Amino acid sequence: MKDAIIQDLQQRYTAKKYDPSKRVSQQDLAILIEALRLSASSINSQPWKFIVIESEQAKQRMHDSFANMYQFNQHHIKACSHVILFAHKMEYTRADYEGVINKGIQDKRLTEAQKEAAFAVYAFAEANKDANGQHSAWTKSQTYLALGNALHTLARLHIDSTPMEGVDTQLLNEIFADELAGYECHVALAIGYHHESEDYNAALPKSRKALEEVVTVL
Ligand SMILES: Cc1cc2nc3c(=O)[nH]c(=O)nc-3n(C[C@H](O)[C@H](O)[C@H](O)COP(=O)(O)O)c2cc1C
Repeated sequence: MKDAIIQDLQQRYTAKKYDPSKRVSQQDLAILIEALRLSASSINSQPWKFIVIESEQAKQRMHDSFANMYQFNQHHIKACSHVILFAHKMEYTRADYEGVINKGIQDKRLTEAQKEAAFAVYAFAEANKDANGQHSAWTKSQTYLALGNALHTLARLHIDSTPMEGVDTQLLNEIFADELAGYECHVALAIGYHHESEDYNAALPKSRKALEEVVTVL
């Protein structure tokens, strides 16, 4: 297909080795960060935090988080340009949703008079509360929307990336305790530019299930 969107999505792939001499420009980084912020989420809950790891010091902390597991992802941290932690709030309270409503009033999407009625959709969060009073399965799934949005944005910017579910959530909780502040990270994204000769994935053809297998048009 010749479409520019499809071509960009065909070309994007998961980088397996980064060129440590190349860095994402601050201009492109700002576009990515704004795309993250604009991501859609159920009831506009936005139950996330995106932690952008840029400095050498922060990269060292991220590198250290692979001490116990998922070492196959560790080498990306210092070679890539930036790493983004996608973190979600474990419990999504009515007060959290009030923050969203108040911002909606500030942004002139709704009026003060509509505030109480706007709480009706908080039922979605209630419906997704587990036996421990946590909403983490629901809030975590929202971060994957932001991840997908990031992958598409990066494809269009021709920036390489590596989504990583291979992260040690427990150790990240300790090492980035101040920044996560009670949120949890189960997926991270390395971004940068692939190594010309050492990224085995760069030359492999894209492989996906056949259209008929995954799509039903009625
Ligand atoms: C949520 C998610 C988690 C992933 N975790 C890892 C990971 O920890 N390490 C890794 O090398 N690749 C990881 N991948 C990359 C996938 O294996 C890859 O996206 C998939 O094989 C499709 O290939 P492509 O991205 O090159 O098109 C992950 C991808 C996604 C979407």
